[in-house]
Amino acid sequence: MSRLWVRLGAFLGKSLQCLLGLGLLGWALATAWFAWQHSGPVSADELIPDGEVAMTQEIIQTAVRIVDQHRESTRYLRDAHAKAHGCVKADVQVLPDLASELRQGVFSEPGKTWQATVRLSNGNAYPQFDSIRDARGMAIKLMDVPGKQLLDDQQSRHEQDFVMFSHPNFFVSDVAEYRQNVAAQADGKTFKAFFPGWDPRTWQVRHLFVALATLSPAPQSPTQTTYFSVSPYKFGEANAKFRVAPDPDSCPTYALPAQNQKLPNFLRAALNQQLSTDRVPACFVLQIQRQDPRKYMPIEDTSIEWQENDAPFQTVARIKLPAQDFDTPALNLQCDNQSFNQSFNPWFGLEAHRPIGGINRLRKAVYEAVSDYRHSRNAEQ
Ligand code: HEM
Repeated sequence: MSRLWVRLGAFLGKSLQCLLGLGLLGWALATAWFAWQHSGPVSADELIPDGEVAMTQEIIQTAVRIVDQHRESTRYLRDAHAKAHGCVKADVQVLPDLASELRQGVFSEPGKTWQATVRLSNGNAYPQFDSIRDARGMAIKLMDVPGKQLLDDQQSRHEQDFVMFSHPNFFVSDVAEYRQNVAAQADGKTFKAFFPGWDPRTWQVRHLFVALATLSPAPQSPTQTTYFSVSPYKFGEANAKFRVAPDPDSCPTYALPAQNQKLPNFLRAALNQQLSTDRVPACFVLQIQRQDPRKYMPIEDTSIEWQENDAPFQTVARIKLPAQDFDTPALNLQCDNQSFNQSFNPWFGLEAHRPIGGINRLRKAVYEAVSDYRHSRNAEQ
């Protein structure tokens, strides 16, 4: 009898060893396959897949459905980034000693200071407590920008927008995947968004992890986190992503008093405490990461973070939010209402900073449609 137990034990031990070995082999093969699939060179041009225009129209319908679902009793809010922590005035100064190859578009003139508005937000489609995990948004609008605007019907704007959130990559690669994912989410089927069918080849496990990582705990203040463009843009002749990172060394030393994070709007309170109560400015750097097409830095896949060891971020401008009183009823209404022309859109700007890649082409149609719908409904109220 005891021999039987010994044999059974040995058999189980061997089986476990085999399973472990198979698991390790599978993991090694998957890693090698992923590295092979995700290695350069990549195209430096946009590659537009068939059917993108039709898919975009479907996405617009879903987006309008979301705006209707989340309307406040009196106001239609944005379809994404509905809750603002505030719209604040900012100075954006191009580095006085900017290297000549980085002098592009609004960064052409070293030392130039642009007046700007910055809207800080939570990413969610409807307002919720700031302590809930979420992406945090930053949208910058430079004003009085001379030159032809990208959108023919927006020539009176004279603006350059930079629209970012607090994670370096997106939870979908392209328009086709976005359509499938967002339609499932709008129906409340979050699981189906990443696992659309029984075929394991359709499962988006990596993208699910990106989505979970994007929904991160709140920072202490909207001035204490880094914001990424996520998608690529032209930078003169080159392609680039950009980011805005805190730069406390360029501002007076400041320690934000601990905020009560149980309060629903503590991020607004933190911003207000620094800029309005304590009258201390907040500083950031605006940085550009240029594409090296020899590396795996694709234009058409926003789920891929461009690695800093493939191409570093380079500072092109400094942003200062001066001390100010932004949290007033009039300024808060202005922050969210287009009758004050306050819409942010990566397509408001110059050819030198043209948005590129499928997700940006999609945003061109969706932001316009949702913004128009939201403002027309608000005008009817
Ligand atoms: C590359 C990734 C993206 C980033 C970094 C991003 C970031 C942002 C930010 C920060 C805002 C708020 C702008 C403001 O403060 O007014 C915003 C708004 C919005 N986003 Fe995105 N977004 C991205 C992708 C998308 C995609 C793929 C869609 C849908 C196709 C989308 C749809 C919208 C809409 C509809 C609004 C509201 C526009 C309005 O009503 O004015 N975004 N986005």
